[in-house]
Amino acid sequence: MRTSLWLLASMACDAAPDVRDSANDTDATLFPEACSYTPMPDLDPAEGVVQVELRASAFAWDPGTGVPLRAGLAFNESVPGPVLEATLGDRVLVHFTNDTAIDMSLHWHGLRVTPEMDGIQQMMGDPVSPGESFDYEFTLVDGGFYWFHTHMDTATTIEAGLYAPIIVHVPGEVAPDCDLPVVLDDVLLDQDTLQLAPPDTDMMQLMGRLGTVLMANGRRDREVQWTAGQTTLLRLVNASNARYWDIRLEEHTFTVVGSDGGFLAEPYTTDHVVLAPGERTMVVVQATGTPGSTYRLMNRRFQLHEEGGDMIEYDPMGEGENPVMSFVYDDATVTGAGWTQPMPDVPTWTGAVANLGHRWLLEEDMMGGTVTIDGESFPNVPLVEVMANMDTTFEVENDSEMHHPFHIHGNRFQVVDVGGVPPAQAQGWKDTFDIPPRTTVTIVSKLDNPGEWMYHCHILEHADEGMAGMMMVGGM
Ligand code: C2O
Ligand code: CU
Ligand code: CU
Repeated sequence: MRTSLWLLASMACDAAPDVRDSANDTDATLFPEACSYTPMPDLDPAEGVVQVELRASAFAWDPGTGVPLRAGLAFNESVPGPVLEATLGDRVLVHFTNDTAIDMSLHWHGLRVTPEMDGIQQMMGDPVSPGESFDYEFTLVDGGFYWFHTHMDTATTIEAGLYAPIIVHVPGEVAPDCDLPVVLDDVLLDQDTLQLAPPDTDMMQLMGRLGTVLMANGRRDREVQWTAGQTTLLRLVNASNARYWDIRLEEHTFTVVGSDGGFLAEPYTTDHVVLAPGERTMVVVQATGTPGSTYRLMNRRFQLHEEGGDMIEYDPMGEGENPVMSFVYDDATVTGAGWTQPMPDVPTWTGAVANLGHRWLLEEDMMGGTVTIDGESFPNVPLVEVMANMDTTFEVENDSEMHHPFHIHGNRFQVVDVGGVPPAQAQGWKDTFDIPPRTTVTIVSKLDNPGEWMYHCHILEHADEGMAGMMMVGGM
């Protein structure tokens, strides 16, 4: 199934000589060298309503190698897709058209929308077929930084470029000098042709697809202009299939001000941040560097498998650090706007609550080549049923030798315990979190968004292989 979709996608590209490609360089205008971005135009002048046009199509984009990817796919001919920008409380209408050759559904990762708009009902029953349109409509009850992506055949379609940032401004947010979404992604290219390598060998299914090119906002050579003294809010999201990122900016520190679900109550300072696939982190960076100098955002290798396990992990990027993008200082120095932390909206549990909703068990059979939840693969994983609007604890036990980023649709959570200890820094609301090897993570939720929701590992190869299940939040 996966292979045939892939062939279909690449054949469609080969067969159509008029496939648009990035020689037109539309993406340069959406993520320019200036420290800024261009959001999708809001077609509705009314306050409180955002209406946008979104179109998925075959688009040969250049990851920065000089060779456009023939099997590339894009939203509005840009990779990442254009920023969906709105304000907390807004009604959002996305007029989506699928101009590709494959069935699609869109998922608004982290936003508490209704089940019909979440992409999963469509994925399981009524996808947006080639040539069809669908209007996604939801009210924003979550502020901060999110992303959207396709939710069918994700290991192939997200790798091909179908992902985009979502910025939801909150009241009281004071714009810093620069507000910059940075989508981190890697692609695995064939060494000779520099085209996307065919997906999904059995080994890749188990280990995850680690790429050969590291990209920030769709290119390996992004440069952003900076001025000494200014303050930047970097909104980071990991859109990789499997790669965990561990990043730092040469000679600068990060102040972590937000996570998956908005701004934190207590920002903290660090020199590097780790993002599992699907996770977001918002960091503030003061431009304390020297005018005229260039500083690189560096990624340090993150090993997915535990030391001394059965699997020897191969990362095509090597063992050390690799540059991801550059910040290029001009010659000026300014007095920046500084940073004002917006009013946080954060969970305040101090530990697990008595009401246990479910304990999940994640396992991997290296020899059999399967990844399972509660001993089964999707759609055979038993349904989890819990009551809505009740504080509920969940435990996720990872009895495998590999990290798994666990993502739950529809509701937000607080991580209260990782392997017997509370997290060192409060992470606010989460929708995606790392479960280290041989470790149990405990989370708590209010479950205030009823419905039947999917949860899954956000290593896309694992998700596509069935490391996923459904949770019914109902009753009351
Ligand atoms: Cu980011 Cu179910 O997905
Ligand atoms: Cu999601
Ligand atoms: Cu996994």
